[in-house]
Amino acid sequence: MSASVISGPAAGYPVIIQGGMGAGVSNWCLAQAVSRTGQLGLVSGTALDPILVRRLQDGDPGGHMRRGLDAFPFPAMAERIWQKYYIAGGKAERTPYLSVPQMEKEIPRELSELCIVANFVEVHLARQGHSNPVGINYLEKIQMAHLPCIYGAMLAGVEYVVMGAGIPLKIPGVLDSYVNHQPAEYAIHIHGSQEGDDITMHFDPRDYMEVELGPLTRPKFLPIVSSNTLATTMLKKANGRVDGLVIETRTAGGHNAPPRGKPLFSDIGEPVYGERDAIDIAKLRELGVPFWLAGGYGSPEMLRDALSQGAAGVQVGTAFEFANESGLRADYKQRLLAKAIDGEARVFTDPLASPTGFPFKVAQLEGTYSDAEVVAIRPRICDLGFLREPYRTEDGGIGYRCAAEPVTLFLAKGGKLEDTVGRKCICNGLLANIGYQQVRNGKREEVGLVTAGDDLVTIARFLQPQRTDYSAADVISQLLSGCEAPQVLEPCDDLCFA
Ligand SMILES: Cc1cc2nc3c(=O)[nH]c(=O)nc-3n(C[C@H](O)[C@H](O)[C@H](O)COP(=O)(O)O)c2cc1C
Repeated sequence: MSASVISGPAAGYPVIIQGGMGAGVSNWCLAQAVSRTGQLGLVSGTALDPILVRRLQDGDPGGHMRRGLDAFPFPAMAERIWQKYYIAGGKAERTPYLSVPQMEKEIPRELSELCIVANFVEVHLARQGHSNPVGINYLEKIQMAHLPCIYGAMLAGVEYVVMGAGIPLKIPGVLDSYVNHQPAEYAIHIHGSQEGDDITMHFDPRDYMEVELGPLTRPKFLPIVSSNTLATTMLKKANGRVDGLVIETRTAGGHNAPPRGKPLFSDIGEPVYGERDAIDIAKLRELGVPFWLAGGYGSPEMLRDALSQGAAGVQVGTAFEFANESGLRADYKQRLLAKAIDGEARVFTDPLASPTGFPFKVAQLEGTYSDAEVVAIRPRICDLGFLREPYRTEDGGIGYRCAAEPVTLFLAKGGKLEDTVGRKCICNGLLANIGYQQVRNGKREEVGLVTAGDDLVTIARFLQPQRTDYSAADVISQLLSGCEAPQVLEPCDDLCFA
């Protein structure tokens, strides 16, 4: 039933992809609401393990996690997680969430199981109540989590894997292996590694299967790139089929590719992009695969423009971030929407905030980590560690560090002082954005660090007269109003947000 309006290479593909928004902003509710319209909803695959744990510790409101666990094909594994983390009625407000082991090259079995199950549950729930495809988004940079996470998503029948923030040349091979539950491996980047070091991670589905299963569907694979060179590299050098490309420009929410050449900054300290960063769409067309344009394409005019240039459609994030179904905290949504209505919404492209080193878009909101005064009083704490990078220790082992952790610790691990400047704890900020902030000393101590694209400024365009909120379907119907795409809304008896 999926809506396809394109003839030629993109026939059968969605016109609108709701971009992956981690952590937990593009949750199963949002992806389900989008896919229900016949367009493509993506759940974010980032940090789903602690997110599942926190939902269970909050008493699983609505019983959705239980439904997902009941559908998991290996019941003993699902039950172990339920028994360990579920608290009937939810944990006490002042009690900390149970922590999840941090990711390492040799993943403890408990963490692998959590990753498999959490990815399964998110995709499974997004696929309920309609018959259209659902995808999952990962950040290549968070490499150590890939193998168990992708297997869990494929067990749930995910139809698309979309991956940004890196060059995911070896992911197609992983997808191919998992179709028949074959072992997969993934070489990770270990800072300072030397020839002969073991940098490869391994995962064998058969170590986890409690019963024999038939073959899985091979999801379509769409890497997210921001240059013609990377687009060509992906198609020429990937170790398996690449089904299309998402081309993301610098106005997009989340992390952005840095400008090419010598770094230049504007008066207010944002990276300055130049002609070398422009995308040549004619050259993209010549690659002969469907492509979607992303970054400021959330309007009927921009969708028409993309289609007229030969794109299969657009990938949109910011417009969906502020829809009712997204995981962003309701108070942040309302305050940022109010700012947009008043013409006061601002987004700052912060070249330093992210420990990944990529520029990171930050929505300016008082009382969050966009506010220098709030940042100044936060002691550096690294207790989630999604962005920790592995490095080679002096004795040839592997250590883990993050440029936003306490400076002395980072330096003791061989990190450079200049790399710590201006870094913010994105992990804690992102979990706070979706209401799962750390509880320490009996208090919910962390505030959010909201990312949004430049489109935030005009987001109020989705509000109907007299309304202060809007749905994902409102976004879809407004975007499609300028072209002849059929609009579909499958009836659904499984809505998490009516
Ligand atoms: C809140 C938010 C979080 C995002 N997180 C991710 C992410 O985890 N992975 C990713 O590949 N892209 C991420 N993005 C980028 C989107 O998937 C999408 O490409 C982008 O938002 C499109 O541009 P737009 O914001 O102008 O619509 C994020 C965007 C937003 C707004």
